[in-house]
Amino acid sequence: QPAPLIDPFARAIQYLRVSVTDRCDFRCTYCMAEHMTFLPKKELLTLEELDRLCTAFVGMGVEKLRITGGEPLVRKGIMTFFEGMARHLESGALKELTLTTNGSQLAKFAQPLADVGVRRVNVSLDTLDDAKFAQITRWGRLPQVLTGIDAARAAGLRVKINVVALKGFNESELFSIVDWCATEGHDLTFIEVMPMGDMSEETRLDQYWPLKDLRARLAERFTLTDLAERTGGPARYVRLEETGQKIGFITPLTHNFCESCNRVRLTCTGELYMCLGQEDMADLRAPLRASEDPAVIEGAIRAAIARKPKGHDFDYSRQGVVGQMSRHMSHTGG
Ligand code: GTP
Ligand code: 5AD
Ligand code: SF4
Repeated sequence: QPAPLIDPFARAIQYLRVSVTDRCDFRCTYCMAEHMTFLPKKELLTLEELDRLCTAFVGMGVEKLRITGGEPLVRKGIMTFFEGMARHLESGALKELTLTTNGSQLAKFAQPLADVGVRRVNVSLDTLDDAKFAQITRWGRLPQVLTGIDAARAAGLRVKINVVALKGFNESELFSIVDWCATEGHDLTFIEVMPMGDMSEETRLDQYWPLKDLRARLAERFTLTDLAERTGGPARYVRLEETGQKIGFITPLTHNFCESCNRVRLTCTGELYMCLGQEDMADLRAPLRASEDPAVIEGAIRAAIARKPKGHDFDYSRQGVVGQMSRHMSHTGG
């Protein structure tokens, strides 16, 4: 059994996020530009290469795999990849196989995903208003996503709704989103908008809604109890005593969680980003294509982990966004 992956700050890397495509059928304004240039096919890792890489990570102690994109379910043949990963669930090496999706394709994929051992899905949904949904996603249609979410529930998947908190956009829907999730039985997580991609600095600062403010609004109507439990992701959870609901907060800006970071990100071209908020990455595609020997790829992964930085430099506190990333969120999969 190879040694586990431990970074220079003694953090064990047990969570791998894998972006399987840079494409998406939506164009969320905080994630993509309206007109994106997508990668040519030959740049992409094949499904077989993705399997080899993920298998190497699982062999070195990665217990949680989250598949992202772009929109992961628009990658051709993606179920073949999921079916392959199921063997790591069956062996017990992998504890969780999951995905983050925009929900548009779930009507078709929910049951097959449940069949290979996926237990929950995170669905990005920032508003319950048709017109606002069309505005923020540019290309998305809300009813299709709601149908997908229903299909996920019908297939027995737990659904977590991810809401990016945007002042002046979904601020007014705070309680309706909370109530909807309670009625439907979905988990809910709010996320602070991160300075990625090409949203202008002004728009971003205008829309920045610190989650401590959102939390204070919630506390006006509910009794909040902090929970100690974690899911292996960056969220911290509270329970609303009146409804019993569990709500997550992801606060990269106001409460940096880098000290307990357990994850790295693989892009669809085989770049390994050791941190969401840093430009440094390691190319794993070259060693993967150069050799069939698992020891080669293992060595490349270990060398990359040895470069994992202490944390990101995002900061909204000095009247400007410091640490803005030129990369689009769709590149690293959030
Ligand atoms: P679970 O806890 O398993 O439900 O998942 P998760 O929160 O790790 O995954 P999800 O894909 O739902 O991600 C939610 C948000 O958290 C996305 O906006 C991610 O970009 C953000 N996020 C996840 N990991 C990190 C991280 O290491 N740093 C920062 N800054 N943000 C992260
Ligand atoms: N800031 C915060 N969250 C983002 N996401 C995409 N772009 C951003 C951003 N700039 C979210 C999506 C999805 C998750 C993977 O990342 O809404 O839920
Ligand atoms: Fe697509 Fe998700 Fe990015 Fe929206 S946030 S454009 S749904 S990848």
